[in-house]
Amino acid sequence: MSYTVIQTEVHDRVGLIRINRPKTLNAINSTVMRELVQALEAFDADSAIGAMVITGDERAFAAGADIKEMVDASAVDMLLADNIGTWDRIRNIKKPLIAAVSGWALGGGNELAMSCDMIIASETAKFGQPEINIGIIPGAGGTQRLTKAVGKAIAMEVVLNNRTISAEEAYRFGLVNRVVPVEVYLDQALELANELAARAPLAIRMGKEMVNHAFESFLADGIADERRSFYYLFSSEDQKEGMKAFIEKRDPEWKGR
Ligand code: HXC
Repeated sequence: MSYTVIQTEVHDRVGLIRINRPKTLNAINSTVMRELVQALEAFDADSAIGAMVITGDERAFAAGADIKEMVDASAVDMLLADNIGTWDRIRNIKKPLIAAVSGWALGGGNELAMSCDMIIASETAKFGQPEINIGIIPGAGGTQRLTKAVGKAIAMEVVLNNRTISAEEAYRFGLVNRVVPVEVYLDQALELANELAARAPLAIRMGKEMVNHAFESFLADGIADERRSFYYLFSSEDQKEGMKAFIEKRDPEWKGR
């Protein structure tokens, strides 16, 4: 399969997917979302592959959903396109999935990393949900998965006040598995993925399912509520103002409607 905004490679028994929009800090547009899920499903169905790694580049894993693609969307546009619905398919991937994160993992980028089973972070990794800056909230599980991963107090600060979590904090909070020098973060993720790929495939699959079972009780309800609120905010003047201000490189003027 050929892709336009991601690249795929095979390393031994691991399928590697790179998001490849470096000029936008790997902002996730609808094509990235679609191609990423297609590539994951293709690797999941390939018996030569035992695990997958998703990465960006050293500067950014992904700086969030593509604001330029969303700025003029209405709530109805968002609901009908339901691009985030595509990402539900990530939850059905059976093989282990590792995010190799360096630099920015923001908004939808952090939500993508948290959708993976494990995260290997470089020392430069920075995690956050800055949607509040542009008049919206996380829409792909951020409010739910972050709260479960780091607890309510930190999640509130991240979601409501754009607190960024450093790599070292992310390790301390239990958001990531390990923090390693930037030179080796991808190699370490591939090594871990190859270890997993060499293990008993059925036990790996059921172990993943069961850990997710523990983690995801009630997650589906929370994610559905979050997505409705996220789409709803596209009927507000503040969403238009917040996103325009980002694109025009100025501070937003909030109206509260
Ligand atoms: C579109 C983006 C982008 C984004 C960065 N760029 N993030 N374009 N969508 N999310 C673009 C910039 O416009 C700029 O393009 C180029 O990438 C480099 O970014 P700079 O801002 O110049 O870099 P820097 O000063 O280093 O700042 C880095 C940054 C900042 C702090 C990460 O770019 C930033 O705040 N980005 C937005 C982060 C954000 O709000 N993410 C959440 C999005 S909403 P030009 O053309 O000017 O060079 C979201 C909802 C998820 O994710 C919903 C579910 C999927």
